[in-house]
Amino acid sequence: MAHYFNEPSRTFNEYLLVPGYSSKDCRIENVSLKTPIVKYKKGEEPKITANIPLVSAVMQAVSDDKMAVALAKEGGISFIFGSQSVENQVEMVKRVKSYKAGFVKSDTNLRPDQTLTDVLELKARTGHSTIAVTEDGTAEGRILGLVTSRDYRVSRMDPDTKISEFMTPFEKLIYAKEGCSLSEANDILWDNKLNAVPVIDDNQRLTHFVFRKDYDNHKSNPNELLDSHKRYVVGAGVNTRDYEERIPALVEAGADVLCIDSSEGYSEWQLDTIKWVRERYGDTVKIGAGNVVDKDGFNFLAEAGADFVKIGIGGGSICITREQKGIGRGQASAVIEVAEARDEYFKKTGVYVPICSDGGIVYDYHMTLALAMGADFIMLGRYFARFDESPTNKLNINGNYVKEYWGEGSNRARNWQRYDLGGDAKMKFEEGVDSYVPYAGSLHDNVNLSLNKVKATMCNCGVVSIQELQRDAKLTLVSATSIVEGGAHDVILRDSSQNAIR
Ligand code: IMP
Repeated sequence: MAHYFNEPSRTFNEYLLVPGYSSKDCRIENVSLKTPIVKYKKGEEPKITANIPLVSAVMQAVSDDKMAVALAKEGGISFIFGSQSVENQVEMVKRVKSYKAGFVKSDTNLRPDQTLTDVLELKARTGHSTIAVTEDGTAEGRILGLVTSRDYRVSRMDPDTKISEFMTPFEKLIYAKEGCSLSEANDILWDNKLNAVPVIDDNQRLTHFVFRKDYDNHKSNPNELLDSHKRYVVGAGVNTRDYEERIPALVEAGADVLCIDSSEGYSEWQLDTIKWVRERYGDTVKIGAGNVVDKDGFNFLAEAGADFVKIGIGGGSICITREQKGIGRGQASAVIEVAEARDEYFKKTGVYVPICSDGGIVYDYHMTLALAMGADFIMLGRYFARFDESPTNKLNINGNYVKEYWGEGSNRARNWQRYDLGGDAKMKFEEGVDSYVPYAGSLHDNVNLSLNKVKATMCNCGVVSIQELQRDAKLTLVSATSIVEGGAHDVILRDSSQNAIR
């Protein structure tokens, strides 16, 4: 007879946290969100620990190098999408690993024979007022001068005036030499009261700018996640088909942690992939696996040697797997059961295999719930897709700004390796949709606000670390009627636009 689970399959929306006793030490500034990413033996330190429990999804519409840098600055990790050529994915990983915080490639460049009109047009387009004047007008050209708003007066100058006539010429420029450290460049900024300093190589070619405001930003990222060489930590998605080619290239490029990206991880394909990694690299290459939704799946991948196990089938915002194939499980039920398996495995073997709740986070409090239910970290797609740093287009639809967001199993992504079970290629079917999500602004602002809420809830629960939350949280199921009670109810909401007028 088939196996039946006793409990219905539950989602995050069906749970709430019940406060615990909060001592005066339960303050937001005392809360640590540090969390292990890869497995470790009892009494040892995990080789990779994130400073915040958020990772971005292995998706074309979410995780490229720009997202990876922005998230590592906040203390989390991006898994660069694998549904692209090995070369392109490697390039993205390399760009993250070679990113020098505070050193920026110039995006506002002109030639000396161009005019004041060109300056004004370019400034309007990029929004940047520091313009590099290079021989060929490129970001890496021989630098001949600089134009800032102090160099021209629009009202008093002929718009056709050549840049060479009003730029600050190279001979008068203060610059830094390629290879200097960020703090040396910063000293030059401060000593000379500059807003920007060009960095040039031995052939007078521009390599970067260092801006005063970026240095300040750098200082304001105390959580940034760096490897032992002070480079940003980055992850990468792999599949169970071309791993013999893809994994060595990603390892060579410097990827810190890999993740087998599949809609269903309880499979011989994943076993083979992990086995291959262990035979070739031992424990030096870190690789997570998934996705699973029950104890059997977790135990299988933990035994296979996965560094972490990812949970979630069918709960992603763009996912139609449950409709198409009738497989999956409510994300809350899945996390709760897998967390129990993780703890049992730890007790039995002395090896702690972190678990990641993947998909289905709608409200910020769902993050806290996932952690309280036992997740060590959380993977999000829709959440990150809304930010400036995601790779997709920002569009204005009927007066509202949105960003594009599509599933890896949609026709747009065509990531069939993620779902590949053999069969006739012509019979592939979609497991994801192509959609829009509301544009939400910068990653920094949103992540900080969300995590502030997570920390506030943790304080209410009387805990100041994720490990304490997992141990002490009290959770209750909510009835359908109490969900109504949870929102604003029985009041007439004032229109916020009217408030603004008054
Ligand atoms: P979200 O955070 O709710 O948007 O879910 C993101 C997660 O959905 C990803 O990390 C994947 O596990 C999963 N996912 C991505 N693309 C697809 C798809 O096309 N179909 C089903 N699930 C997907």
